[in-house]
Amino acid sequence: MAHTPGESPLLRVEGLGKTYAVPVLEDVSLEFFPGEILALAGENGAGKSTLSRIIGGLLAPTAGRMELAGEPYAPAGRRQAESAGIRMVLQELSLIPTLSIAENLFIDDLPHRFGLLDRAALNARAAPLMKRVGLERLDPGTPVGDLGIGQQQMVEIARGLIGECRLLIFDEPSAMLSDRETDLLFAQIRELRERGVSIVFISHRLDEIKKISDRVSILRDGRLVTVQPSADMEIDDIVRAMVGRDVESELDFGARTVGGPVLEGQHLSRGARVRDVSFQLRKGEILGFAGLVGSGRTELMRLLFGADHPDSGSILLNGAPFVPDSPRRAVQAGIAMITEDRKGQGLLLPLSIGINTTLADIASISRGGWVDTRAEETAAETFIRKLAIRCLGPAQPVDELSGGNQQKVVLARWLYRDCDILLLDEPTRGIDIGARYEIYALMGDLLRDGKSLIVISSDLRELMLVCDRICVMSAGRLAAVFERGAWDQDAILTAAFSGHIHQTSQEH
Ligand SMILES: Nc1ncnc2c1ncn2[C@@H]1O[C@H](COP(=O)(O)OP(=O)(O)OP(=O)(O)O)[C@@H](O)[C@H]1O
Ligand SMILES: [Mg+2]
Repeated sequence: MAHTPGESPLLRVEGLGKTYAVPVLEDVSLEFFPGEILALAGENGAGKSTLSRIIGGLLAPTAGRMELAGEPYAPAGRRQAESAGIRMVLQELSLIPTLSIAENLFIDDLPHRFGLLDRAALNARAAPLMKRVGLERLDPGTPVGDLGIGQQQMVEIARGLIGECRLLIFDEPSAMLSDRETDLLFAQIRELRERGVSIVFISHRLDEIKKISDRVSILRDGRLVTVQPSADMEIDDIVRAMVGRDVESELDFGARTVGGPVLEGQHLSRGARVRDVSFQLRKGEILGFAGLVGSGRTELMRLLFGADHPDSGSILLNGAPFVPDSPRRAVQAGIAMITEDRKGQGLLLPLSIGINTTLADIASISRGGWVDTRAEETAAETFIRKLAIRCLGPAQPVDELSGGNQQKVVLARWLYRDCDILLLDEPTRGIDIGARYEIYALMGDLLRDGKSLIVISSDLRELMLVCDRICVMSAGRLAAVFERGAWDQDAILTAAFSGHIHQTSQEH
């Protein structure tokens, strides 16, 4: 339900700007209405998080002013913004892994009894919030570090739902969520809208923007280029406004020469998550893994990368038995893995893009090894160009980059290692639509160099665009394998659900 014309805005920002070495946000004027979902779209580095952080009190603007319900609004910090009823769910998870779900939820306001943390009261307070985001099956005392990445995101979202709230900003809340979790999130967002809360929704999934928002606002290079009712904008229009041109949506990898098997799993099993999975990755191909979140795809990759060990089954590398007892061993054997948990990727945030790209492993700098800075810069510049990393240059610290651009640095680091086999878990998550095609093109280059790729993605269209074959996992098992040209979306989805249907019927 969009706001009615003539209604006064809850929040008005005027001529807002933020300048570091260069301006990253310029002259943004925008109104936020109660009971309205306003989407914020734009390429990686366009200024979406910067704008949100200013509104949420995490960052001070260098120009412009804000007005909340007609009164001047200039929060000195996040807590001040929250007491004014403005909360945000951050793009980067800000949870403390060693603390429990309940403790993380009420970290600013833990209940005490006789000077001790009152766990019973805490857990009782956490329960209804957890239910709202579908986490009711979990014990509120579970450490957050034990949760999957999607569940952690749900805790982060639950924290945003605490207390009286007039404006709630979601900065890419769905990037790490499964479809089911996203549905729950959307139900919550719609309920908040009914209650008159003003919602800002940031996402690179443009179909979601179409689905949930009342109006779309688009930032390009720090400037607001348009604000329109969502009904008036097709996805193509949004893309064009974001990037300022038509984006290629066709992909031509040319003729591929696919060779013999390079990496094989034979009857791999680990607990209930991976069950008797056999597959072959052939030289020069992209093998996709589709499936629901929790279907065992990431767990399977972890076995191949030596991060976990199988209970049974074996792995062959170039036809010979291969036992990756550690990730280090896997990397030595020429296998790279880009995991879905970017925070666990060990980006050295205060250090430069150059160092982060070329750093072979952390040990090499902690020994104070000699670094060829010139070569480092050249390498970093190559990747900055290839991946369209928006930055000031190779010397810029990674923590000054936008979320999506930090992810590109993670990709650059692995590409620099020049491994023969790449395991990519959700490689384009959080990456804008234009840059996605740059990454696909890069995948094409890798194939031509004789590399072999496994790609996990929850975006089925992405898999159908880039893959030679698609394996579908369901409840830990390999449910089906489709060859390019012989797949259709419905068949893949049916296979993805097959094991789960089977499993639930067994449970009853
Ligand atoms: N401390 C800083 N110093 C210099 N530049 C910065 C700093 N913080 C952010 N920037 C720059 O501001 C620009 C906008 O970043 P912002 O995080 O707002 O982008 P975004 O639209 O949220 O992108 P994404 O989709 O990748 O999350 C980026 O180019 C980023 O490099
Ligand atoms: Mg951002």
